[in-house]
Amino acid sequence: METYDGAPEPGGAPALSDAPLPTAEEANPEHAAKDRPAEDQTVTEAAADEPVVEQPVKLLPVAELHLHIEGTLEPELIFALAERNGIELPYADLDELRARYEFTDLQSFLDLYYANMAVLQTEQDFADMTRAYLERAAAAGVRHAEIMMDPQAHVSRGIPLETCVNGVASVLANSLAEFGVSTLLIAAFLRDLSEESALGVLEQLLAMNAPIAGIGLDSAEVGNPPAKFERLFARAKEAGLHRIAHAGEEGPPSYIIDALELLDVERIDHGIRCMEDPDLVEHLVAERVPLTVCPLSNVRLRAVDTLAEHPLPAMLAAGLNVSVNSDDPAYFGGYVDDNFVQLQTVLGLSEFDRVRLASNSIRSSFADDERKTELLAELGYS
Ligand code: HPA
Ligand code: ZN
Repeated sequence: METYDGAPEPGGAPALSDAPLPTAEEANPEHAAKDRPAEDQTVTEAAADEPVVEQPVKLLPVAELHLHIEGTLEPELIFALAERNGIELPYADLDELRARYEFTDLQSFLDLYYANMAVLQTEQDFADMTRAYLERAAAAGVRHAEIMMDPQAHVSRGIPLETCVNGVASVLANSLAEFGVSTLLIAAFLRDLSEESALGVLEQLLAMNAPIAGIGLDSAEVGNPPAKFERLFARAKEAGLHRIAHAGEEGPPSYIIDALELLDVERIDHGIRCMEDPDLVEHLVAERVPLTVCPLSNVRLRAVDTLAEHPLPAMLAAGLNVSVNSDDPAYFGGYVDDNFVQLQTVLGLSEFDRVRLASNSIRSSFADDERKTELLAELGYS
């Protein structure tokens, strides 16, 4: 079978982490398209400030590597959970809630994101939210998802750690059978809280044998540099956990360097501001450091002015190991498929680049080699 990587390897298995990117001659989009499982999708909507263009878009099998499960709480589910739990929301109806989804920066989003978590009270609430995401993600072509949750955001409002972890984990345990999506859970720590708080929660997670594959670092970036969490990440590494961190979303390129050097992270979430530092770009390319880019998020949080000005094409051209992810899809105008549709519609992203983004996502995941091989084969690599 032909592959995007050129000559097939003996045994047919592609190199999983350091495989070279396909050259234009080696790429054969028609070939990949022919055994694609997902259905075609049609562009029907564009972001408010972007032109609407109808065109068919093929869904690719992808790994979603940057997703906050609390950011998948759709307005309808917020109202349903509020009613179930007898919580009075500060919005009269869905329209009034949706009217708040005009963000000026990361903090303006985080304020609403944390406030809406009030509706998550029981294990069932966390399970329902997780199930809703997986159902939607599967329809978007997601075949593997590494899902962040923010335990401190729940513990701090009196929800037991077991409630949130077990609620999410109970659904993830059956995600492959139920939705065809393999999953891993990542505990993300809030960088605007103290390292002591994070260490305390991490120790509790370890003590309860929580099914977490790794830790992440999120929330308000500027003023909360990676150096603040060196002990947390050292402890996670000692415990055998994977490590990722948001860096270079609103924060400077130096936060990306520090996350790599001080926290020994394996992936950078966002990372778009690396483009301001050519030496850093050279390093990230040489090391094939994965950057989990979230285009619609960047537009909604004003990290970039418009999608047309998003640095993703330049990042691809520079040879960076980028993938496309949805971050907080209920708040930012769409899931992974919506991101791909917009990228194709607004930026004219080619099928060659979309296949490259999909293969980057699979190769950069923490899935085992067998699962990566399976998903790369679905994408047309053998
Ligand atoms: N950035 C930082 N922290 C977050 C985000 C984000 O986009 N979403 C949820 N927590
Ligand atoms: Zn994020």
